[in-house]
Amino acid sequence: MSTVTVVSVINYKGGVGKTTLTANLGAELAARGLRVLLIDLDPQASLTFSFYKPGDWERDLADEHTILQWFGSVLATEPTAPLWRYVLTPPLVNDAITQVGGGRLDLVASHLDLVDVDLDFAALLGGSRFQHGSPRFLDLHRALTDALNDPKFQEYDLVLLDCAPNFTMVTRTGIVASDHILIPAKADYLSTLGIDYLRRKVSELVRDFNRVTTDSAAQINPEFIGVVFNMVQYGNNGPIVASRNFIGLTGGLELPVFNQMIRENKTLFGPAGENGIPAVLVPNGNATIQYELQQLASELLARIRT
Ligand SMILES: Nc1ncnc2c1ncn2[C@@H]1O[C@H](COP(=O)(O)OP(=O)(O)OP(=O)(O)O)[C@@H](O)[C@H]1O
Ligand SMILES: [Mg+2]
Repeated sequence: MSTVTVVSVINYKGGVGKTTLTANLGAELAARGLRVLLIDLDPQASLTFSFYKPGDWERDLADEHTILQWFGSVLATEPTAPLWRYVLTPPLVNDAITQVGGGRLDLVASHLDLVDVDLDFAALLGGSRFQHGSPRFLDLHRALTDALNDPKFQEYDLVLLDCAPNFTMVTRTGIVASDHILIPAKADYLSTLGIDYLRRKVSELVRDFNRVTTDSAAQINPEFIGVVFNMVQYGNNGPIVASRNFIGLTGGLELPVFNQMIRENKTLFGPAGENGIPAVLVPNGNATIQYELQQLASELLARIRT
């Protein structure tokens, strides 16, 4: 865990809205005056492309301004580069935030080659099982935690990590750095299966990490703050019956569930990167969805602060 509050947004299941919710929660909280840092830990880089057009990314960011270069320094023998050097302030969304007198939304961008970093990590740790007997188990798992402990990050009220739908080393550094874990899910069978699997993988990581660390202050204990149901299909009387059944199923997983759900709206959540401004801040946007996202942001703050 780091000195700044960190929330990982993760689910094993792909396409459930991790990136969409990370972008919207970050934008909404920044609009309310918070200083929020988003870190894109997914090689798909969808969060990055929600704020930068692919052509601009390629020209201005890809070579020197993404988390790929930072992880490269973690894996190299020279001293690790400070992570703050890779922090960007995406212009369009911050114009919208400034107009409402808000705070700031910063981003550490991702890179498609981040996949290779995972292979390098695995090589250093003695294979893909990340053996806790490896001498570098602790420092590599703590890489992001240590980076975020830099005083430069104290200015942020919140850091949100957009994780890939897997449990590779990059994701694991995110979990180790996290105070809280937020799980977006669709109300369907595979999503609920993924949640249970994720929970087991997180417990294993916490157990292995705490077993290896000798410093009791460095022990980790990320808290599952809740499952958020996204893309919920509504009929005239609330969520359709099939969705309601799966939402009920999460009771059996013994995880908290956010009261606020986000409904499905295919036109509003179009392909990433269309306008650089998340749906919640789009002027004259869809009032129902914006309200749901705002309520979700309030609930997130309440769950973090209690
Ligand atoms: N409430 C919603 N209604 C309709 N479409 C949505 C909703 N939320 C997200 N989407 C769309 O669903 C797709 C997947 O969303 P997103 O990329 O956020 O998921 P993800 O969990 O981050 O995926 P991945 O596992 O690939 O990282 C995107 O095209 C997004 O615009
Ligand atoms: Mg994503």
